Amino acid sequence: KMRKKIVAGNWKMNLNLQEGVALAKEINEALAAEKPNCDVVICTPFIHLASVAQVLDANKVGLGAENCADKEKGAYTGEVSAEMVKSTGAQYVILGHSERRQYYGETVEILKEKVQQALKHGLKIIFCCGETLEERESNRQNAVVKAELDGSVFNLTAEEWKNIILAYEPIWAIGTGKTATSDQAEEMLCYIRSIVAEKYGKEVAEETSILYGGSCKASNAPELFSKPNIDGGLIGGASLKTADFKGIIDAW
Ligand code: G3H
Repeated sequence: KMRKKIVAGNWKMNLNLQEGVALAKEINEALAAEKPNCDVVICTPFIHLASVAQVLDANKVGLGAENCADKEKGAYTGEVSAEMVKSTGAQYVILGHSERRQYYGETVEILKEKVQQALKHGLKIIFCCGETLEERESNRQNAVVKAELDGSVFNLTAEEWKNIILAYEPIWAIGTGKTATSDQAEEMLCYIRSIVAEKYGKEVAEETSILYGGSCKASNAPELFSKPNIDGGLIGGASLKTADFKGIIDAW
């Protein structure tokens, strides 16, 4: 595959500061010996970012936030701006995760603003999309994913698009131990690549990294990563232990 291959961890709301720094150190050391065959990124809670940045070898492991504000700055108590994220040394931000959409009411319009903020401040975006079980059972998964992309990222210019990594995460596979089959994941990623091609042309679509997320682990990563359209994984649970995470990285 010519495209960038990526394994990204999403710690979600796990690990206190000390635990997070210790894990980041361990992952950094585990990758010290040999150069991985893919880009490795870890995405952490906001409060971990600055400290984790100190212990990561930046040309070996990328760092990202799990969210950022839809506003530039000002009286938005409790929010963290894209500029603040960037100033910690982070280079990435996850946007559009289904947990943010479901539990925190993030709409396509809000996400469109967040994407703008992230781009303005030079962050690369891991933009998530994916359908619920009910939507899949009624065969609406393609329409749902297309609407999520249409509403938040398909307004970008081709130049801006270079900063977008897509992650398909079927909601029914997140944290459930129930992975999409590699064929289901491949089929959707192929569809996503086709709608990126409609918007930005075939060449751009071929260069866009698209990840799969949802109960991805060392045991199923080789099968998933062997598919032509799957360029890596967005890893939740299995990113919280060095051996598990390293096992997925080594699947490339
Ligand atoms: O962002 C990561 C995904 O939500 C997957 O989480 O690997 O725990 O299923 P999981």
